[in-house]
Amino acid sequence: MQKKWWHGKVFYQIYPKSFKDSNGDGIGDIRGIIEKLDYIKALGVDLIWISPIYVSPFVDQGYDIADYQNIDPIFGSMQDFDELLEKAKALNLGIIMDLVINHCSSEHKWFKKALADPKSPERNYFYFRKGKEGHEPDNLRSYFGGSVWEKVRGEDDLYYLHYFAKEQPDLNWYNEDLRHKLFEMINWWLDKGIAGFRVDAIMNIVKDLNFPGLPKDSGSDGRCAVNQMTARLASKVGPFLQEMNEKTFKKHDAFSIGEAFSVNPQDLEKFIGDEGFFSSIFDFSTRELNESFPFCYQYRPISVKDFRESSFKAQLRANDIGFLAPIIENHDEPRGVSYFLPAMWQNSQGAKALGTVNLLLRGIPFIYQGQELGMTNTQFNSIYEFEDLNAQDQYKACLKQGLTPTQALAILNRESRDHARTPMLWDESTFAGFSNTTPWLKVHQDKEILCVKAQESDPHSTLNYYRKLTALKHDPAYQELLTYGLFKPLENPSDFTICFERVLDNKKIQVFTNFDTHSFEFTVNNKAQVLLSSGKGCLAEGKLKLNEGSVAVLYFED
Ligand code: GLC
Ligand code: CA
Repeated sequence: MQKKWWHGKVFYQIYPKSFKDSNGDGIGDIRGIIEKLDYIKALGVDLIWISPIYVSPFVDQGYDIADYQNIDPIFGSMQDFDELLEKAKALNLGIIMDLVINHCSSEHKWFKKALADPKSPERNYFYFRKGKEGHEPDNLRSYFGGSVWEKVRGEDDLYYLHYFAKEQPDLNWYNEDLRHKLFEMINWWLDKGIAGFRVDAIMNIVKDLNFPGLPKDSGSDGRCAVNQMTARLASKVGPFLQEMNEKTFKKHDAFSIGEAFSVNPQDLEKFIGDEGFFSSIFDFSTRELNESFPFCYQYRPISVKDFRESSFKAQLRANDIGFLAPIIENHDEPRGVSYFLPAMWQNSQGAKALGTVNLLLRGIPFIYQGQELGMTNTQFNSIYEFEDLNAQDQYKACLKQGLTPTQALAILNRESRDHARTPMLWDESTFAGFSNTTPWLKVHQDKEILCVKAQESDPHSTLNYYRKLTALKHDPAYQELLTYGLFKPLENPSDFTICFERVLDNKKIQVFTNFDTHSFEFTVNNKAQVLLSSGKGCLAEGKLKLNEGSVAVLYFED
């Protein structure tokens, strides 16, 4: 494997709207991030991914971009951004931006020109099509519900394509001018000195230009979820990604990470091998367990065993190919502690053990803001408390399916993306130190226990444990092993344990976590020493006794 500068690094994802509000409007901003750089540094991460801060009408929380080369005033100015970049650099923290190029906002000047003038070059930056027999051109269902086609106002039978909201028209990657414009924009940011990009929804850029649609799925609307089409076309996306890499990331030795669902296992090397399209792609294997279901009322809960089996499978596949990026949550997911763990371990003990798995699996781990505090899901008491457009769509779909409002709310309380988007908890004050006014999204019910201020001073807090984890990842004695060491499953005595090892030459690190209701005894190498642990466990004469809710990380040389 060719060595790259990003190997061994740990990333921290910031959702800027919810991180820190510096000017009292209830919305997080760039100056808020600047205020908290020391906190981020002290967490021991190397790079920050900032979700979109570009000019946007915020139909999809900034993932609908109206101007790729300017900062939305809600977040501050380009001067603020430059200052952030500079101050982060001084702390040796890199910044990667979000690259949302499957679609833009319907407020982008390209789309406005395309609508205003059918003869404009911009018209071909998008997909405009006539209907078929009085219907939309195909029967695909957008990610956020309803058809992927929206009628062009004032035209009889003309539609444009949007895989997400109707305010997010898809960009036509088959148009060379458009690709050129996008690559120019990417290089402009890289020239500014950012370390790279997280590349949004990228598998969707490939289309079947005949727009044939697909047989209807289990929904009652006669449609088929658009992700099924994307999955079918997955092996055709290569040339676009290769071109983008060659014309942008590669030239700058930039880090790139794809939000790439449905990659065929046989294509993994093309994506993340030495000459791959990306430096890494997220491991969404647990998410993919529910991918075939179009509506979240159909999702089945994901157990510790499901998590273990699917992520182990992904790890084994990537072992001699490249690095996946392990996550337990992001801004599109409920909190991992609430989602994957049994109720009794949805607490600090569970958070530490799950965090250990997240950071010590092979790959480039991402920590999502608040994860290091052990944040769980926020309790939403009514549909009106949700902000996400997807929550609103899914709620309607639940009711249409005959669920009661109480049942629908319970489903959103398990699945909604808004769980990850509630304000970061800095202290125990009314607005959690996030803002001095009512925040745009409600504050978590357990701010007193979960907040940074309470955890700073407690040596046994989740936050201080995460700091030990990042320190271990960077410890020169283990860094090689924790970066390049192969992943191997260990024997798991229960459906509620996650045990694995990392192996390099004669060196081994073994991770034991126990989310069960009783303790286990493991036979281990008698030279093993404990590098890190939480909860109760003891190691003596080649036996590790690990109590329920505990984690232990062992090291030995054979
Ligand atoms: C990605 C983003 C998500 C957004 C969607 C459309 O999945 O992570 O937040 O809604 O793309 O841009
Ligand atoms: Ca603000």
